[in-house]
Amino acid sequence: MNSRDIRQQFLDFFVSKKHKIVPSSPVVPFDDPTLLFTNAGMNQFKDVFLGKGTRDYTRAADTQKCIRVSGKHNDLEEVGHDTYHHTFFEMLGNWSFGDYYKEEAIVWAWELLTEIWKLPKERLWATVYKTDDESFEIWKTKTDINPNHILRFGEKDNFWEMGETGPCGPCSEIHINLTDDLENKNLVNAGTADCIEIWNLVFIQYNRDLKGHLHELPQKHVDTGMGFERLCAVLQNTPPSSDNYSTDVFSPILKKISEISNKEYNKDNKSSFQVIADHIRSLTFAIADGAVPSNEGRGYVLRRILRRAARYGRKLNLHEPFLFKLVDFLVKTMGDVFPELKNNQSTIEKIIKAEEVSFNATLDRGIELFEKLANRLIAENKKVIGGEDIFLLFDTYGFPVDLINIMAKEKEIQLDEKRFNELMNEQKEKARKSSKMKNQINEIALHSLDDFNISENVEQEFLGYDKLESISKVIGTKSDDKILYLIVDKTPFYAEGGGQIADTGEVEIDGNVLRVVNCIKVEDKFVHIIENEKQIPIRNNAEAILKVNRNRRWDVMRNHSATHFLHKALREVLGTHVQQSGSYVGPDRLRFDFTHFEKPKDEELEKIEQIINEKIRENLELNHLRGIPFDEAKKMGALMFFGDKYGEKVNVVQFGDYTLEFCGGTHVGNSSQIGMIKIVSESSIAAGMRRIEAVTGRGVEEYIKVQNEKINEEENKLFSLQE
Ligand code: SER
Repeated sequence: MNSRDIRQQFLDFFVSKKHKIVPSSPVVPFDDPTLLFTNAGMNQFKDVFLGKGTRDYTRAADTQKCIRVSGKHNDLEEVGHDTYHHTFFEMLGNWSFGDYYKEEAIVWAWELLTEIWKLPKERLWATVYKTDDESFEIWKTKTDINPNHILRFGEKDNFWEMGETGPCGPCSEIHINLTDDLENKNLVNAGTADCIEIWNLVFIQYNRDLKGHLHELPQKHVDTGMGFERLCAVLQNTPPSSDNYSTDVFSPILKKISEISNKEYNKDNKSSFQVIADHIRSLTFAIADGAVPSNEGRGYVLRRILRRAARYGRKLNLHEPFLFKLVDFLVKTMGDVFPELKNNQSTIEKIIKAEEVSFNATLDRGIELFEKLANRLIAENKKVIGGEDIFLLFDTYGFPVDLINIMAKEKEIQLDEKRFNELMNEQKEKARKSSKMKNQINEIALHSLDDFNISENVEQEFLGYDKLESISKVIGTKSDDKILYLIVDKTPFYAEGGGQIADTGEVEIDGNVLRVVNCIKVEDKFVHIIENEKQIPIRNNAEAILKVNRNRRWDVMRNHSATHFLHKALREVLGTHVQQSGSYVGPDRLRFDFTHFEKPKDEELEKIEQIINEKIRENLELNHLRGIPFDEAKKMGALMFFGDKYGEKVNVVQFGDYTLEFCGGTHVGNSSQIGMIKIVSESSIAAGMRRIEAVTGRGVEEYIKVQNEKINEEENKLFSLQE
């Protein structure tokens, strides 16, 4: 049975149990700051589990692209050492949202594994959470598993959590024992390739908050996840082997690596082959979904993955960029299941190649520096490289420590590893503190309404697409010294999102006029951040008159609409490989980051500006479609880059027949209201990534004024010289 059939049989089985098949969400999470990468099938349903979102179905199934390289679920270092952990894998999953619960989840899993796929029952084991008698009984009475094969485990193995916070609950896992020692229960959860977990059935019933406390959810849900590559190994191989790399998911890539390196895949070099085969999948899928290697956050994790693969490549004597050559192959084998690979192939290849080239340069520079250092030591008859020097090579020049090790050995020089480790630990501690702080601030700001005084849990209305003022009712507050956090039943204030910054303005309550300095979304609520110098008490139910700063909002709208025109014009002039990879839309200017592999020529930039200004003058009307089904928007051909929350309603912004994008932001009513656009800068921000900054409307007036002043100044200088 090939992997394609296995995937399809899983989906068909759950269709027969009345599940809706949903698309995998992107590996780059759209709006979850607690995650760098999608790490489980349930991520896209987090809002449903927490009771904050709904879907028009209560049973779903899919194959979800997952990357586990950071945070609570990180398998990076296992790759190359075992045959069943991956940085990228597909997770087959089925879900119930307050619909069926433990019994159906367990019975169906058993049916699929033993009746459809006919896995030998004597090899299967079930584990349950230590106090979960209900699951234990279901396994015992509703399936024909050997009752001695039902085991209880504690939190570590049988309580599943998505991250430090979020939905969680007890789980029941199914393991397969591939050894001849069929009744040996000690093999279960022992972490060997011969007895592995294949399916995890999670019974989501709690939400863990920032303080670590568990809160019972309003409804109980099922979240299951089965490692697709492991399943293929089990179905395609004969015991005792469960090697994922021998399945048709991996073997063709290994063959390709063999071709490129001119080396056989054998026991001596298998780590290199496996690391490369695994990592190229993460890189390809992550870049297809909009991530790019860089020095920060998600981009930095990708950079590390790429560098790890490139280093293992050197062990196969691959010194020139080679990873990018494997992309074509992945596109051919997986592009029909995941069309985003096909659609972005050349961008993915170019980004990977550019990054490989720059890493090679880093390595070359590192080697040169190392040689100088080593020669100096040898000349001075010293035998140890100091910890500070190793740290400098590693930290400042990005030279990998294992290479330093190898080269030092070759020159018979020792390394002061103790001092180096001390310096590394100091640095890690600093990073940990700062990232913890950042996370806490983000999470508190973005994720909790716990300490708000909320009187009504109404669905707030956002009026800001059509109105800049409203008479609203206070439904929640929180005070923190001189800052007031205010929630009202309806608001014209845009909360920061999709690159567009929040509105500012004022609010009048009981005759007091206060300044609104920001507005952010917390758990789907618009929270206005207000300066309340005199600490005026605000009560729920009071009338609040909200007014958005009109001029500032118009500046923002002009910049936001212009961003869509810029995106379109860039694709027209430079090519459709141009993809948005970030943006900032403020009142002062717009910033647009995109993929492109060389500096655009001056003529190209001029042309882009010209096209946009022409389109602006054409007075193209805004067509703003709000809350339309995702599929409908996609059919219209709307551009979408950072992935969207599938299954939800989306907004589409269209200007005439020129631009068409998914967008939640606010816009001018027709293009002529943008006035004019002027590109003020263009620069490189990373390998294969460019940034354009531009001004519109009043910003252009200001720009011309400043330029004129500069010219006048220069002229005056000239005249004074002549005099
Ligand atoms: N969320 C669970 C896991 O990732 C089951 O899907 O294992």
